[in-house]
Order: sequence, then structure tokens, then C-alpha cells
Amino acid sequence: MNSEQSNPAVRSVASTQSEMTEIILPNDTNTLGNLLGGRLMHFIDMTGAMAAFRHSRTYVVTAAMDHIDFIRPVHLGDLLTLKSSVNRAFTSSMEVGVKVWAENTKTGAIAHVASAYLVFVAVDEHGRVQKVPELKPETPDEIRRYEDALRRRQHRERENARQREARLASAAQTDGAGKS
Ligand SMILES: CC(C)(COP(=O)(O)OP(=O)(O)OC[C@H]1O[C@@H](n2cnc3c(N)ncnc32)[C@H](O)[C@@H]1OP(=O)(O)O)[C@@H](O)C(=O)NCCC(=O)NCCS
Repeated sequence: MNSEQSNPAVRSVASTQSEMTEIILPNDTNTLGNLLGGRLMHFIDMTGAMAAFRHSRTYVVTAAMDHIDFIRPVHLGDLLTLKSSVNRAFTSSMEVGVKVWAENTKTGAIAHVASAYLVFVAVDEHGRVQKVPELKPETPDEIRRYEDALRRRQHRERENARQREARLASAAQTDGAGKS
């Protein structure tokens, strides 16, 4: 395999698709026997990272988990299946979508229980930011997610700027109060 085959400049969404299945055990649950939210977020982070690894073929760090919907509880003994793929690659960051289903092992009923969007950033072994390949969406769903990912990035950037300004204004106020 030459380097262009192993590390192409453009990748398909299909080449990033990843999946993980877990059985929900007592250690994963709260006192009601439902899956802990933090544990679910850990599974989401892991499955999201798998898609980002497959796209970037380098180390990745989670920069943001910016939208997560917990739609219904997951119970002790359920089988949890998580599926992820890269929605869009920017310069060094990738937005990954993760969808989660729970299966009742007795009835076989499967329900969508959560969805999330995460941003991963590609880095080298020293933590330096790395450029990632382009992502080429092909199907109508992939194209929709690709376009939505840009809107979410713009929204995230506006929100980060707003929070920076609020922090600066608050610091200036504290500073001013100290001087009076
Ligand atoms: C994520 C991180 C590498 C970015 O480093 P940085 O010096 O801010 O890098 P830059 O400003 O050059 O931004 C690099 C990319 O990260 C993206 N980014 C940075 N902070 C982000 C945030 N909070 N949310 C989403 N994207 C973010 C930028 O948009 C940029 O994307 P692009 O190259 O595709 O345009 C750095 O903030 C970091 O290491 N954070 C801690 C990560 C971590 O410990 N995660 C938990 C364990 S994995």
C-alpha cells in the first residue's frame, strides 16, 4: 500500500464509521438501576474518538462535546450500541456525530436513547495541532450533516466569543471595584 492509499487527502464518511456495543452492568448504573449520565458520556466520547482516529490517522483530543440529548433512560442489563462518523473535517478539527440505541435483551425492543455532537482536534505525540484530510460527503444524509456541522461550528464560535467578552467584562468590573 503506498502512502496516498494509506493516508489519502480526501476520505469518505463511510471510512470513518465506528461502532461499539456494551452491556450495562451494576457499576454503570445509579441507585434506580439506570445508566449514569457520566458513564454514557464516556461511551459517547470513546465511540466519537474512534471515528476521529479513522479520519485523521493520528492522535486526537476532545475539544468540545457541544450538544447531547438524553432521550430516555437505559436500564441495567440493556445492550447499548453506539455508532459514530465524522460529519465534517475543518483544518485540524472534526465534528463527529454519535447516535446511541438501547436493546432490551428479554424483548429485543430497540430504542434510540441519545445523540451527541463532539469536536475532536488532531494532534501529534507532543500535542501539536495537525492538519486533517478533507471529508467528502456523498449521500443526501451525509451532505445534510456536513452542512449542519458548519452551522454548528459558527454557532459555537459566536458563543465562545460571547463568553470571552463576558469574562473580560467581569474581570474589568472586579478590577475596577478593587481600585475604588
Ligand atoms: C483542543 C486544543 C488542542 C486546541 O488547541 P489550540 O491551541 O486552541 O489550537 P487552535 O487555536 O490552533 O485551534 C485548533 C483547532 O481546534 C479548534 N478548537 C479549539 N478549541 C475548541 C473548542 N473549545 N471547541 C471546538 N473547537 C475548538 C479550533 O476551531 C481549531 O479548528 P480548525 O483547525 O479545524 O479550524 C487544546 O485546546 C487542548 O489541548 N485542549 C485540551 C483537550 C483535552 O485535554 N481534552 C480532554 C481529553 S482528550
